[in-house]
Amino acid sequence: MESQRFDLTGKTALITGAGRGIGLAIARALAEHGADVILVARSADQLQIAAREIEAGIGRHAWTLAFDLSKTNGVEHLFSDAVEAAGGVDILVNCAGTTVRKPTEDLSLEDFRRVMDVNLTSALVLSQAFCRHCRSAGKPGGIINIGSLACHAARPTIAPYTCSKMGLLGLTKTLAVEWAPYGINVNAIGPGYIATELTVPLRKDPEFDRWVLAKTPLGRWGTPEDLVGVAILLASKAGDFITGQIFYVDGGWTALI
Ligand SMILES: NC(=O)c1ccc[n+]([C@@H]2O[C@H](COP(=O)([O-])OP(=O)(O)OC[C@H]3O[C@@H](n4cnc5c(N)ncnc54)[C@H](OP(=O)(O)O)[C@@H]3O)[C@@H](O)[C@H]2O)c1
Repeated sequence: MESQRFDLTGKTALITGAGRGIGLAIARALAEHGADVILVARSADQLQIAAREIEAGIGRHAWTLAFDLSKTNGVEHLFSDAVEAAGGVDILVNCAGTTVRKPTEDLSLEDFRRVMDVNLTSALVLSQAFCRHCRSAGKPGGIINIGSLACHAARPTIAPYTCSKMGLLGLTKTLAVEWAPYGINVNAIGPGYIATELTVPLRKDPEFDRWVLAKTPLGRWGTPEDLVGVAILLASKAGDFITGQIFYVDGGWTALI
């Protein structure tokens, strides 16, 4: 009985950034709890490998849609392709993300816009399409946005990333209060520093590595699997009364003075 609260059987989740890293870990975990999954990222090869692993290893359906989310004009079409392939979407995980590391005085508008488009605008457009889909099907839904410590505070040289993630938190709270009457819950997860491809340059820098370990009370980099417990909670019936929140999964980073 208790385990049914976390059961996702009969649900379909669309996860962006699902080719590797955090998105793939969340896709696997949702599938392990019974959901079919639609995987979105640019690299068709990575998506195919991920989908084969989920279908063969976990036994759930996994559809793949290779798409560049910086092309925000096509995002609505991407969502209708997903609905056509899978028959519907019940959970949307906006996880795809990118960054540019540069002193802000040297930052081009092109770089700024690309990061904002991938990290924030695509999440907005997908969420809009998801909301219309849920409303026309007369069903509830759940949106999980993958934020960051950058939802909470800033660090030099990543202005586009910080603006996009603070914007994503604003979007999370806005949609939560606006779409609560439609039965759509909207929350965010704020990962601390997690060992993925995105953070390879940071982990290779001994000074940065020392800084992360010193600032993280639990004393280590996180893994993508550290994030899946909260994702399952937010996607499942157990999370029905949770909306408009961000959950930092950061080894204690944001608790430390
Ligand atoms: N790692 C951390 O320490 C950390 C901390 C806080 C928050 N996060 C957030 O967690 C999310 C996932 O990051 P990660 O660490 O798992 O990074 P990652 O390993 O680099 O994975 C990023 C995923 O996003 C996809 N992606 C990137 N640009 C895309 C685009 N233009 N269109 C479609 N898909 C795109 C990538 O696939 P393709 O390259 O094939 O497109 C990949 O599947 C991001 O939103 C990131 O900001 C990460």
